Amino acid sequence: MDIQNKWSPLLAERIKNADKSGFSQGNIIVLDETESTNSIAKALAAEGASHGTVVTAESQTMGRGRLGRRFESPKGAGLYMSVIVRPSFDIAFAPLITSAAAVSAAESVEKLCGEYTAVKWVNDLYMNSRKICGILTESAINSKGSLAYAVIGIGINVGKTEFPSELRDIASSIEAETGNIIDRNILCGEILGRLEYYLENIEEKRHISEYRRREMLTGNHITANTGGREVEGYAIGINENANLLLKLSDGSEMVLASGEANLCRIRREK
Ligand code: BTN
Repeated sequence: MDIQNKWSPLLAERIKNADKSGFSQGNIIVLDETESTNSIAKALAAEGASHGTVVTAESQTMGRGRLGRRFESPKGAGLYMSVIVRPSFDIAFAPLITSAAAVSAAESVEKLCGEYTAVKWVNDLYMNSRKICGILTESAINSKGSLAYAVIGIGINVGKTEFPSELRDIASSIEAETGNIIDRNILCGEILGRLEYYLENIEEKRHISEYRRREMLTGNHITANTGGREVEGYAIGINENANLLLKLSDGSEMVLASGEANLCRIRREK
């Protein structure tokens, strides 16, 4: 079956109706194909596009992930969205934007498909131990040293699709995991509504308790790459700045603000 027949097309009007918060103010751009919605959103932000502007596309030819990776974005099978944020909050809270987006996306996915959706520090969503979503936040600082804008890029594998061989065991989609075909317009609107709420309340860190509850590395032995250094330890939890707290084998503790971490073996400590 042509995936475009199975999936409702992305429509700006339907996304707007699904976003009860009015975050986007109707500034929603739906593209058929583009290199990367983040690149388009960054260009629009640099030209002055307003807070809440959303760029989505049916497919991306050069979807970007963290650490220079590629994000597979086949036509009609995913929700590829980028949101322009012009924060009124202090730049000190900027590192919390990605975790707020992760909670917004996890809650929305779970609401629509009914399946528990975990967060893997710092920016991935997992369902049944497979990645279904990645988030890439890119920002620009102005001459006064405050945040001019941030672009939050969210890529969710919604429909069943063929992944390249190196991703087959680690990536999945909402449809493959649940059998549910969810409407991407509604998913996008749900995410925007939550994003608006959590960003408005970022100084109170309202999303952190939910981030902690869903975080899947906590309580496990992990390996992490941070600042070009490989470390191994036990993930104790997430602090109020969404940093990962690690206990090393010599008993010392380490706070990871960025980087990438993976389970090294499933072993819960008492
Ligand atoms: C990751 O897994 O490392 C992050 C993936 C982020 C993908 C999204 S899809 C929409 C937006 N446009 C991009 O080029 N990337 C983000």
